[in-house]
This record gives sequence, structure tokens and C-alpha cells, in this order.
Amino acid sequence: MSTSRKLIIAIDGPAGSGKSTIAARLAKKLGYINLESGAMYRALALKAMERQVPLDDGEALRKLAENTVIELEPRGEGNRVLLDGRDVSQRIREVDVTAASSRVSTHPPVRRVMVARQRELGKDGGVVMEGRDIGTAVFPNADVKIFLDADANVRAARRTLQDGSGSHEDRRQVLAELAARDERDRTRFASPLIPAPDAVIVDTTHKSIDEVVAGVEGVVKAVASGW
Ligand code: DC
Repeated sequence: MSTSRKLIIAIDGPAGSGKSTIAARLAKKLGYINLESGAMYRALALKAMERQVPLDDGEALRKLAENTVIELEPRGEGNRVLLDGRDVSQRIREVDVTAASSRVSTHPPVRRVMVARQRELGKDGGVVMEGRDIGTAVFPNADVKIFLDADANVRAARRTLQDGSGSHEDRRQVLAELAARDERDRTRFASPLIPAPDAVIVDTTHKSIDEVVAGVEGVVKAVASGW
């Protein structure tokens, strides 16, 4: 599918809702770049951990963010992530960084820095950007806004599979961590995880990846043809 206008497509949703997979597939089909905004919060969280900057000190984290170069290089699926030139693509997916990223992202001064950079990255369009606040805060005028959601048990199961583990215990642990992160992301003061009023909400609980991609593609086509 090709669209003549280079659209900005926002895909938001909680962890395990299918954002990364759907965004990557959609970007590939459209010939767009796929940018994972969460990777930026993850990279900053990693630097804060390494420098022992307290995760509850918003001002110190803002200064750190301003003095940090985070690059997202689109590749097949997802992004290669460079933190001050160092490849941290794997490290930022680990459980300690995941929890820290959710804490780092609660601070409004940190979000201001990140949102400004995300706008710059996506301003020319031809981009599928995924995150929590893309349709509400980063690109409130995005051409297409999708909010993916799924039952928490299903999201935890997907994460467990993704991590290569699968025992009942692993799943319980993942579910507990996911619930804690969801709660923090959804109830934070600054840009909480909520669907934009004009987002198309897609519940992926009982849908295959192909079904979701087809549905989202349909929305993009409709917008591109100026419905
Ligand atoms: O999408 P992710 O799991 O990689 O995101 C990691 C954390 O970053 C997540 O807990 C919330 C935060 N985040 C955010 O606040 N805003 C975004 N646009 C993307 C991620």
C-alpha cells in the first residue's frame, strides 16, 4: 500500500498490547520509519541508573536528558538505540531498566525534553510513532491515531513468551510488574496513558497480529483517501 501524502501515524497503548509489532509491520508496509518513543525513556533511565541520579528527582533528570544524545535508528523490527553513541538496544529491555523507565517518565520536565525531540523526529511525516502519549501530547494533530489495548492476562502472557520464559511463576511475576507499570503510566499527572478522544481503539485480546495490522491499515487507507 502506498499513500501519496506522508502521514503521521500515532500508535499508543499499554505494555503488551502489540504496539511494537503492529507499528513495525505497518511501517514496513507503508515504507515509513518506525520510531519507538519508549526507547528514549528507557535509554535515559539507564543513564540515570549508571550515574546514580535519583529516579524521583525530576530536575536532575531533566538536566541529564538535556545532556544526553539518544538516537533511534530504524531497522527491520524496532529500533537500534544509541545512548551517547553506545548501542544499548538489548540492555534497555531488561527488567530493571523497564521499571526505571516508567518512573523516569512520570516527571513533566523530562517529558518536555523528550516530547520536543520526538516532534522533531516525526515532523516531516512518513512515520509510525509508538508510545503512550503520541496521539494526546506529541502529535495531537496526527493524521491517524490508534490506541491498542488488551486484557492484562493476555498482555502478560505475550510478554512472557517474548522474553523466552514461560513458566507459571514467570507469568505471575510478569503480570505483577505489568500491572504496577500500567498503574503508574495510567495515573501519572503528566500525559497519562489514555486514548485521545479521536483515537480508534482496537482491542487486540482475541485478535491475531495479521488481523490487527489489516484493521489498522484499513484506517490508514481511509484517511489517506480523504474519507
Ligand atoms: O513502550 P515502552 O514499554 O518501551 O515504554 C517504557 C516506559 O516509558 C513506559 O513504562 C512508559 C514510558 N513511556 C511514556 O511515558 N511515554 C511514551 N511515549 C513512551 C513510553
